[in-house]
Amino acid sequence: MTHFSLLGQAEVFHKGRIDLVTVADQESESYIKEALHAAYPEIGFHGEEGGGSVYDQGRLFVADPLDGTTNFVHGLPLFCVSIAYVVDGQPQAGVVYAPYFDEFFWAAKGEGAWHDGRRIHVSTTANLVDAELEFGFSCVRAGLKPDTMPIASDFVYRAQCIRALGSAALALCYVADGRFDGFWEYYIRPWDWAAAQIIIEEAGGKLTDFRGGPVDWRTGRVLASNGLLHEQMMAVFAERHQN
Ligand code: IPD
Ligand code: CA
Repeated sequence: MTHFSLLGQAEVFHKGRIDLVTVADQESESYIKEALHAAYPEIGFHGEEGGGSVYDQGRLFVADPLDGTTNFVHGLPLFCVSIAYVVDGQPQAGVVYAPYFDEFFWAAKGEGAWHDGRRIHVSTTANLVDAELEFGFSCVRAGLKPDTMPIASDFVYRAQCIRALGSAALALCYVADGRFDGFWEYYIRPWDWAAAQIIIEEAGGKLTDFRGGPVDWRTGRVLASNGLLHEQMMAVFAERHQN
């Protein structure tokens, strides 16, 4: 395992009351942006720290230079770098790298999903009661409604367990390799899920909105699963009338 030293407070800035950014986020994004521009100058770039608004058209790299910043700041090693290659809003290839664990996930359309040279597949869990699910709190943090707490309460009583690891891109890769069976989050941004979408799809799973359609980049309602659980998870959202 790779060891990293804990950050000093001087390197942490607040984007909002509890929304953090570090020098590592900024330097990682600059490096990724420059390296991709040097190799593919004709392809656009949209990163979490770089702003921009129109990003679901044309050829584009969509990057989160550090997904799981709060974990990183607290010295919890669940964080990653996520980069997607997207054409007209459709992810064509994705890479996700978790430095502490030295785990590399990638996929490209028609080429399968891979984890450190090993082909990966979603789980075979067929019933919600046997499922380990992951979710995130971005809506609560941003004060947006509806938030995830009522649906979290529904799932905690129906699934085997629910978790909130704090890095959406990494957790979605865990759905792709069968560690998790499903995932949901409200108001999640494309840099958190675009790379993982193609990784999950190539691993045999699904990533959609809460009704089974394509994710709207603006509302960011993401439901991912091994495919077998998708209908059961969608039914929980339908019951809550939160679609
Ligand atoms: C956040 C993490 C978190 C998820 C949030 C994301 P960041 O990304 O992925 O798990 O719940 O929606 O914004 O801020 O650490 O890059
Ligand atoms: Ca980030």
